[in-house]
Amino acid sequence: MNASSSYQPQLLSVAPMMDWTDIHYRQLARLISKHTWLYTEMVVDNALIHNPNRDRWLWYPPEQHPIVCQLGGSNPALLAKAAKIVAEYGYDEINLNCGLGVDDADSYEELCNFIATVSSQSSVSHFILHARKCLLSGLSPAENRTIPPLRWGWVYALSRDFPHLHFSLNGGVELCRTAQSAIEHAPPNAGRIHGVMIGRGAYNMPWPSLGSADHTIFGMPAEVAPTRRQVLEKYIGYAESVIGRFGTKSDGSPVPTMRSTVKPLLALFHGEKGCKAWKRSLDASMLAGGMDVAAVIQSAMRAVPDEVLDAPPCPPSSLPIAFATGELPPPVSLQDNGVCSSACTTLSLSLQLSGPRLGAAKQQAGNAWEHMSMRAQIIARVGEQREVGVLRFWSWQHFFL
Ligand SMILES: Cc1cc2nc3c(=O)[nH]c(=O)nc-3n(C[C@H](O)[C@H](O)[C@H](O)COP(=O)(O)O)c2cc1C
Repeated sequence: MNASSSYQPQLLSVAPMMDWTDIHYRQLARLISKHTWLYTEMVVDNALIHNPNRDRWLWYPPEQHPIVCQLGGSNPALLAKAAKIVAEYGYDEINLNCGLGVDDADSYEELCNFIATVSSQSSVSHFILHARKCLLSGLSPAENRTIPPLRWGWVYALSRDFPHLHFSLNGGVELCRTAQSAIEHAPPNAGRIHGVMIGRGAYNMPWPSLGSADHTIFGMPAEVAPTRRQVLEKYIGYAESVIGRFGTKSDGSPVPTMRSTVKPLLALFHGEKGCKAWKRSLDASMLAGGMDVAAVIQSAMRAVPDEVLDAPPCPPSSLPIAFATGELPPPVSLQDNGVCSSACTTLSLSLQLSGPRLGAAKQQAGNAWEHMSMRAQIIARVGEQREVGVLRFWSWQHFFL
C-alpha cells in the first residue's frame, strides 16, 4: 500500500530516461528536491517476469517516494503480470509505456480526438505530453528530441479545451524557474497546465533544474533547501550502503559498482567554478583505486570552492519568464460522446485498436491496481520508431486514477 495521497501533487517530475534515471541518479535528485516526483527508467515486462532477481530492477530506498515505475510492453496480459510484481514494491504509480500504431495523425484535432476517446472510455484524467512532433523519416530518436519544433501551445490549448482534465508539459524545459513560469503564466485565453516534467535538464544540470524546486514549485520555505555539501554528505551514506547490495559479478566486482554510484554526481557543479576539477578528481581517484566511495567523493569536494559547495540553490527570478508557446490552435468542437466531430480516419482506427487494448490491460491488472490504491499510468506513444513497427509522433502519458 502506498501513501501517494500524502505527497505533493505532481507539479514537477523528472522524466523516465533509460540508463539515466537509475536508482543512483534518483537518490541524488531526491536529496536535492524532496517533493519532485521521480520516474524510473523503463523496465520491460518480459524481462521482469523472467528475471528472478527483481530487487535489482525494482528495489529503491524508501526516501525516493514519490516515485513512479515505468513499465514497457505491448501485451496486456504480460503488462498486467508485470504490474502486479511492480505493485509489491510500493511504487506510487505504475506508468505503462505502450506503443500505439498511428500513422500520419498529428493535427491538434486528432490529438483532441485521442484525448477525448481515452478519457471518456477510461478513468484517465491526467495526460503528460512530450510537446514535440517527431518526424518519422530521417531522424534518430535522439535527433527527434532536439530538432523538431516544440509545441508547448498545444498543451495549453488542451488545458483550455478539456478543463476537467489535467495536462502536464514535457519537452525542452530545463530549469526549475522555467517550469514555474510555465505553470504560473498561461498564455492569454489558454488553460493553466497541471505540471511540468523535466528530462535531460534534470540529469545534465540537476542543481539549477531541481535545486529550488521545493521552494519555487512546491511552496516550501527557502531555508530548508540543502546545500550541495549537505547533499553530498548524505549521498556518501547512500553510496556506502548500496555498493555490492545486489551481489558480485563473475570478475568479483560489486553490483552496483562504485563507478555507477558516482556517475550522476559528475554534473552536480555543471557550469560552475571547480566543475572540471571535481570531475577530474572523481575520475582520477576511481582509476587509481584503493579508495572507498567516501574518500573518493570527499577528496573531489576539496577541489570545489567552499562558496560553491555551500551556496543555496539559485533563487527564482522575480520577473516572470516569457514562456514562448507560439499561437494556440483554435478550440475544437466535441460531440456528446466526447469525440471530435471530424475525426481522422487513421487515428480513429488506431483508437479502435488501442481502446480495447488499454481496457484489457486495466481489466487484467484489475484488482492489483485498484486494491493497492495505485494509480496506473499508461503512456501511449505515437510515432518515432517506424523500423520497429511502433510509430510515434507524440507521447501521451495518461493516468488511471
Ligand atoms: C537518454 C534518454 C532516455 C529516455 N528514455 C525514456 C524511457 O525509457 N521512457 C520514456 O517514456 N521516455 C524516455 N525518454 C524521453 C524523456 O522521458 C522525455 O520525454 C524527453 O527527453 C523530452 O524531455 P526533455 O526535453 O526535458 O529532455 C528518454 C530520453 C532520454 C534523453
